Formats: sequence, structure tokens, C-alpha cells
Amino acid sequence: MAKDQAAIFSFRYFCYILFALSSLSSISFLYWSHCSGPCNSQNPITLQEPNQPINLLSFPSAWNHLSFSSKPPPKLLKIALFVKKWPHRNLAGGLERHALTLHLALAKRGHELHIFTTSSSNSSFPRYPLINLNFHLSKPTAAGYLDQALVWKQFQTQNSSGKSFDVIHTESVGLLHTRSRNLTNLAVTWHGIAYETIHSDIIQELVRTPEEPRAYVLTERAIKVVEEVKFFRSYAHHVATSDHAGDVLKRIYMIPEERVHVILNGVDEEIFKPDFTHGKDFRKKFGIPESRALVLGMAGRLVKDKGHPIMFEALKQMLMEDDSFRKSVFVLVAGDGPWSGRYRDLGPNVLVLGPLEQAQVARFYNALDIFVNPTLRAQGLDHTLLEAMLSGKPVMATRFASIMGSVIVGSEMGYTFSPEVASLKEALYGVWRDGRGVLEKKGEVARQRGLKLFTASKMTAAYERLFLCISKDRKEGDARDDYCRLASVDGAGECGKAYAEREALNLAPCALAARYEKAHAAVE
Ligand SMILES: *[C@@H]1O[C@H](CO)[C@@H](O)[C@H](O)[C@H]1NC(C)=O
Ligand SMILES: *[C@@H]1O[C@H](CO)[C@@H](O)[C@H](O)[C@H]1NC(C)=O
Ligand SMILES: *[C@@H]1O[C@H](CO)[C@@H](O)[C@H](O)[C@H]1NC(C)=O
Repeated sequence: MAKDQAAIFSFRYFCYILFALSSLSSISFLYWSHCSGPCNSQNPITLQEPNQPINLLSFPSAWNHLSFSSKPPPKLLKIALFVKKWPHRNLAGGLERHALTLHLALAKRGHELHIFTTSSSNSSFPRYPLINLNFHLSKPTAAGYLDQALVWKQFQTQNSSGKSFDVIHTESVGLLHTRSRNLTNLAVTWHGIAYETIHSDIIQELVRTPEEPRAYVLTERAIKVVEEVKFFRSYAHHVATSDHAGDVLKRIYMIPEERVHVILNGVDEEIFKPDFTHGKDFRKKFGIPESRALVLGMAGRLVKDKGHPIMFEALKQMLMEDDSFRKSVFVLVAGDGPWSGRYRDLGPNVLVLGPLEQAQVARFYNALDIFVNPTLRAQGLDHTLLEAMLSGKPVMATRFASIMGSVIVGSEMGYTFSPEVASLKEALYGVWRDGRGVLEKKGEVARQRGLKLFTASKMTAAYERLFLCISKDRKEGDARDDYCRLASVDGAGECGKAYAEREALNLAPCALAARYEKAHAAVE
């Protein structure tokens, strides 16, 4: 009896100790997972042993944070791409631009590309001097989509001639889920999903004027989300173009983590780069007075859902209510659309340039002090922000989860505002008060971030690695051939610089983050 009691007592005691230990460890876990500065926003802290190879397929952040070898590809792939439309000159949306930049770069790296796309007339289709880049054109359906039966036949012909395809890539629903089912070597890149679009619908409803009819898209959109949740799972691998979209695919669309990969878009770093002389020439060419202390720029389609109604209203009010703002600010607008006429009505402070060729767009960025993108579209990720950042300019954009989670992650590189006139005005006045000196510093931070994350070569390297990893005859367990792992070697990450300092100050959270970064910012 006494013995039993003693046993119970010691068991109870044991439980107390266990309880005390577990509460301690949860506290320390909370403490460890808290991380200040740049490390908490983008580098999820996983309690992973340093110096372990990283499993890329379940890597939680954007692959752009990793370093891949720039050496020639270890293996040449035969790649099929399904894309509804191939870009024609500068008339291209984000999806088409992504398709063009990525697949031209992959072809230049020696991979064999077969692009299944639509063309209404054969004469105007662009030609490229690359023998390993093949186009298979077909007439679009009445709704403008790829004729699935036809492209599938074209695909089968190519798949059975010579080598079969190693990997299949579809930009959005270029290849429908009914055809994509069962293809394990397939990846789909989403440039905007219905769940994100709900945010845009809410904003459109909020900015609607009483005269405009109410749009009943919100309920329809929710049903669209449900449909997407159901059919998205038919695709083997998913690429999200922002960290936020990646989260939504994992949490709301319930796609297993090892099938969702975040690869942020990249833009050509040879074209978009700082060039002081070009910028100065551009200002001179368009007669922008040297006395103007602040040059703001916008680019893209000048339509309602790109935020031009609120930008127009904000500028109109500011030019009217503040003399010194009017005397010191100049606004350059590149692009075409219904709002170009209204901007012209704002008087001599605003210059509408019309649509520009790519080389001109690069000069345009260099002529600015800050690039502003007032878009009301929450889905996808605008390339213009990335171009401006690579050109060394600070950026200002709408507070969308995709933008704040992947692009403007802090005030060091730019400004954000809520999609309404008052908030936009406040942000614009903030920019004006900060002035050129502050903007130049932010521009440098933006450029460094752009070089690290948003170059076409970074994007291409990440996709190439993904394609090697999911390609059909990858040998599992074979370390040399296992492209799904990234060997970990010391490298300096975002927290890496402060590593020693933080360690000395016993700042455990960041030390851990730094170790995580070290393990992940691997150099092969
Ligand atoms: C496009 O090519 C097809 C055959 O490849 C031809 O029959 C057709 O007339 C061409 N169309 C134009 C607009 O050139
Ligand atoms: C392509 O060809 C290979 C080899 O013949 C075959 O295993 C594969 O199933 C084909 N792919 C499709 C999607 O039909
Ligand atoms: C995919 O596989 C399932 C089960 O293996 C089969 O029933 C279905 O017909 C296949 N679908 C396609 C499009 O090949």
C-alpha cells in the first residue's frame, strides 16, 4: 500500500515535471519563433538541422531565395508548354510575358521546347533564331482558348517522335485539368486564382460610384473558388507566383505542400537596370523641367481595374489643394487606355506618353524618382513593380497580400496604400515629404532585392530545377540524380550578415533564422 502510494506520488510528480517541461518548451518555442527585422516576414523558421540537404518540393518559401548553379544544365530536357496566347510585341499581359521570358531563356539554355499555342493568322507570328524552340500553332476556339482535342493530338505526335517529353508545363488552364490528370511530370503556373480575385471584387464594389450598376460577381466568385478547389487537384505540381498565392493553394485549396511551389516572376535584368544617362536624356527629351523635385511614373494599361480612377482623383485633389506640391511634382504616364484622356486634362503637371517599346520603357523607369502602381487587381503579380525595382527605383503599390508578402516587404524599398483615394493621397504626400534623397536610398534597397529575387535568370534557374526534379525518369534515391534536393553549403542570407552580432547578443531567434538561411541559401 505504502509502496503503491509512493509509486502514485512519484508518478504524479513525474507528470508535474513533464507538464513544467512542456510548458517551458512551448514558451521557448514561442520565443524562438519570434523574429524581428526582415527575417520574420519571408523566412519561415523551421526547426531544421543545418547542413542537411533541403527537400526542394516541400521548401516553404519562394525558390527565388535559393542559389542555383549558373553552370550549363546538367541534363537537357524536352519540354512541352501549353499557353493560350503567345505575346505579340508589347501587347502582352503578365501571363504571356511570363511564358515568353521563361521559355526563351530555357531554350537559350539548350532545352528542347515545344510550345502549343494559338495563332489566328500565320503571317504575324514572331520568329526566333533558335532551332530548339518549336511552335505548334492552332486556331483558337470561339472563346479564345486552346482547342484541347487538337493540341493534344499535336502533343501526342511530338511525344512519339524521337524522345518523349520529360516535362509538361501549362500556363494557367492552357492544358485543361481533364487532360492533365494522371500526368506526374506536369507543372501548372497560376497567374491569379479566384480566391485572390475576391479581394479585387470587394474593392471594385467599394470604389463603385452610385451611378454605376452594382456588380453581382461576388457570389459567383465564391462558387468559382469551390470549382477551382475541386479541379486544381488534378494537376500534379503547382507554381504560385507569390508567397500569398502559395499559402492559399496549400491552406484553402488544400493541395499537399510538396505539390505547391512558390517561384516569383522575374524580368530581364539586362534590359531593366539603372542607367543615369538614359534617365536624364529621357527627361530632357520629354521636356521635364530640371526644377521638378519629384518625378512620379506609372505604366501599363490605363484602365479602371489598374486603379487609374483613384490615382486620377488623388492627383486632381493634390494639384488643386497644394501649391508647392503642384510646383514641384511631375507625373509621367506610359501606356494607353481610356484614362489617358482624363490624365491629359490634369494640365501641365502630367505627361501621357502613350504606349512605349520595351527599350523605351527601360529608359522611362530611369527617368523617375518613384514608380507607382495603383492596381486594384489583387490576383497575380504585376511585372512593372519588378522592372522598376531592377532599375533601382523605389516602388509604391496597393496593400495586397501578394505585394506585401513578396515584393514591398518593408518600407525600406517603397510605400504601400489602401485602395482608396484618402490613403493613396497620404502615401503620395509621404513620398513628396521624404524627397529625392530618401527615395534614392530606398531605390538602392529595391535594386538589391530585385537582383536577388526578381531576375529572369533566377526565375529560369528555379523552374529548370523544378522541371529536372519532376521530369519523368528521375531516379529516386540516387543522390547524384536527385534534383529535388539542394545540398546545403554556407551562404550569406538576409539574416546572415548579422549572424555573429546577434549570436553575441544572444538573440537566439535570429541566430536560428540565420542558420536556417545558411542552410537554405545554398551554393552548389
Ligand atoms: C496558315 O497556314 C495554313 C497551312 O499551314 C494555310 O492553309 C493558311 O492559309 C495560312 N493562313 C494565313 C492567314 O496565311
Ligand atoms: C509520352 O510517351 C511516353 C513514351 O512512349 C509515354 O510513356 C507517355 O505516357 C507519353 N505521354 C503521354 C502524356 O501520353
Ligand atoms: C487517370 O487515371 C484514372 C485511374 O487510374 C483513370 O480512371 C482515368 O481514366 C485516367 N484519366 C485520364 C485522362 O487518362
